[in-house]
Amino acid sequence: MRSTITLFPAFPTMRYLVCLFVGLIAGALLASIASSAMARRHAWPRSLMTVMQHDLVDARAAARSGQCKEPANADAAARLRLLAGDLERALLPAGTKDRVLSQYAGDMRATLAKWDTGADCARQTEALTAVANACDACHRDYR
Ligand code: HEC
Repeated sequence: MRSTITLFPAFPTMRYLVCLFVGLIAGALLASIASSAMARRHAWPRSLMTVMQHDLVDARAAARSGQCKEPANADAAARLRLLAGDLERALLPAGTKDRVLSQYAGDMRATLAKWDTGADCARQTEALTAVANACDACHRDYR
């Protein structure tokens, strides 16, 4: 029977180097698999948040610059309301509940409901500040 040592007679330390190398490769592979699995798991909540962020930033800019009656503003409101309905599904593992998180999500939906895209821009600016505060409230505890 040939042992590892006889495979590398000239360099007895060679097998340690081989083991080290194999260990490093295996470790790097596992780390990359784990990190891509994590990225996939967060893909939905993160994309949902990114879209909400865009719409909120645009709507606040429109309200401040007196362009809150543009159709794009009503579209942003419709998208935000639609996405806010998916918060729990995107953030919680399937089949689980979280009373506090649902409270924050509900508060956000309530502030979105108070945002009237037909109101004057000053009123809309106020309503959107309340929405942004509702985002921050949840982020303080969950992000
Ligand atoms: C009910 C809780 C909750 C509410 C409400 C909420 N968020 Fe988030 N937000 C989170 C959590 C949790 C994360 C971290 C998500 C992750 O990394 O998986 C997050 C992450 C984010 C991110 C970072 C995304 C990334 O790429 O990592 C942004 C931007 C964001 N939220 C914007 C918003 C905006 C804008 C609103 C309001 C319109 C909002 N969020 C409302 C819980 C919430």
